[in-house]
Amino acid sequence: MTGVSNADTRTVDELIADYQAGYSLEQRFYTDPDVYELELERVVCRNWILAGHVSELVNPGDFKVLSVGRESALIVRGDDGNLRAFANVCRHRGSLVCLESEGNARRFACPYHGWTYDTEGALVAARDLPESVDRADFGLRTVSCEVVHGLVLIAFCEDPPALERCREELAAPMAMFDFENLKVAAVRDYPIAANWKLAIENYQECYHCATAHPEYAAMHTLMLDRKKRPRLQEAMRARMPACGVDDYCIDRLDTFAPPGEIGFGYDRHALFEGYLNGSREGKPVAPLLGSFSDYDGGASDFSFGGFSFLLAYSDHVVAYVFTPVDHGSALCRVYWLVRSDAEAGCDYDVDQITWLWDVTTKADLEIIQNNARGIASRYYTPGPFSGMESAEQNWVSWVLGELARP
Ligand code: FES
Ligand SMILES: [Fe+2]
Repeated sequence: MTGVSNADTRTVDELIADYQAGYSLEQRFYTDPDVYELELERVVCRNWILAGHVSELVNPGDFKVLSVGRESALIVRGDDGNLRAFANVCRHRGSLVCLESEGNARRFACPYHGWTYDTEGALVAARDLPESVDRADFGLRTVSCEVVHGLVLIAFCEDPPALERCREELAAPMAMFDFENLKVAAVRDYPIAANWKLAIENYQECYHCATAHPEYAAMHTLMLDRKKRPRLQEAMRARMPACGVDDYCIDRLDTFAPPGEIGFGYDRHALFEGYLNGSREGKPVAPLLGSFSDYDGGASDFSFGGFSFLLAYSDHVVAYVFTPVDHGSALCRVYWLVRSDAEAGCDYDVDQITWLWDVTTKADLEIIQNNARGIASRYYTPGPFSGMESAEQNWVSWVLGELARP
């Protein structure tokens, strides 16, 4: 066992068993490569991760590559119209096959010796193979891939959590935003020099919002105390029906999801008066989505499993995906989505719709990285969660549950 402290010889199982609920995780959860290895196997590779939106992969041959930890998935629209994901690993001697991050191709030729695969993953060309080798046995390996109301999810395993209930229960709230007919207006990557869990834990709590995010705090009410929020929530609820917005609240966090199913959630929260969305001025920045007939001054949170989170305003959607790169670094990818018929420069301006979550994500990078540096210190010990960190506690419990599940 490699540990940060030579004196700490506990196994990962013992470390999990020693976790004290109500407190942050021990140092080794963030710094021990053995913990990270187990996380890759038991948490990262057996759960769903948002890989994008169907609008990015419309035509046969449209593809994108998603890297997570040591894994790389090639997601491609087949000539038969179906969307599939493959391990981007050549069946000859293992090179990455596709080195581009996105594009359109009918054939994927491995850059090493030229083995070539079609859009359905079949090996269609390989020079000078012995006759005894059947090419049909050497197609690209499959990565699980499903579409949930327009969102593309992948999982690097054969038996990922069931999506049926998520699909069913989120159908109505997602239809309000017409998720299937959105398009990606912008996507940006934010590399983070910190263990991946710190990035997601930070996203789970708004205890830091008042101090770290003045822009966000000016418009979002989530960090208000329990006395002030209900009045604003009620005012938004009163506006909702006339704006074409239905009231749903689904709280099936991963922690409480039945075994074998993805956890998910949905809720809508009020913005401060005068803000119609999360733009700098709080004014309309894109055509209204789906069934919206007017602005109710709210924003909806969606969660899909432990890695993917969305925030849906009345006229645009922001999607967050956090993935590990290695045990000490992570990637935060942010998508901004608008109605598919909206035209850039005419119906929306990319700088306007990306402003809040670009400035907020950059501020988050700083605090997450500072957190990682402090946790690496010999003086770090777990501290107590506040009342505003209950979602973080749930997420941490979910991770530990997954880690402990054989
Ligand atoms: S490793 Fe891909 S063709 Fe040899
Ligand atoms: Fe933040």
